[in-house]
Amino acid sequence: MKADYINDVEKVLLSEEEIADICKRLGKEISSDYVGKDLLVVGLLKGSVVFIADLMRQISIPCVIDFMDVSSYGAGTVSSGVITVNKDLEETVEGKSILIIEDILESGRTLKTVVDMLKERNPESVKVCTLLNKPEGRKVDFEADYVGAVIPDEFVIGYGLDYDELYRNLPYVGVLKRSVYENK
Ligand code: PRP
Repeated sequence: MKADYINDVEKVLLSEEEIADICKRLGKEISSDYVGKDLLVVGLLKGSVVFIADLMRQISIPCVIDFMDVSSYGAGTVSSGVITVNKDLEETVEGKSILIIEDILESGRTLKTVVDMLKERNPESVKVCTLLNKPEGRKVDFEADYVGAVIPDEFVIGYGLDYDELYRNLPYVGVLKRSVYENK
């Protein structure tokens, strides 16, 4: 069955306007917290691309942007906590203040692993900014330093987040109808 973008969305969780406000708020906070620092903003592919594109334009201090692509493999939809690096950073990180940008923090496994990995490369600091925080999904002890919005335990799509690689281009964050993934 082909995805039907309008009919597959149960409800809008974060509208375009709400997301724009979040980006402004976080951009302002980050710009003030990192004054005078050698700021390296790291997006985790692919989910963070839309968020990082909007957020970076709200950061008013000098910064360098880089990307990493990591996958966690496990049985079915459950991640195992084993992370494979598909694409590493191009920038060196020694002495830099790293800010990782994520679309969603769920189990915490991805971010915990990436943060631990980058800390071994002697940066000045490693912090995390996530658009969405789903605390009910947490499996490991991990919290982000900057959070756009706390969301309930629902399957979210849009604004970078996918289901089966689709829906990333929706301009808002929505809840996917259960029928889309339960009747597959
Ligand atoms: C998603 C999301 C986070 C991670 C969050 O990535 O973008 O990276 O899962 O889950 P966790 O807190 O349980 O580790 P995914 O592996 O689906 O890749 P994508 O960014 O390419 O969609």
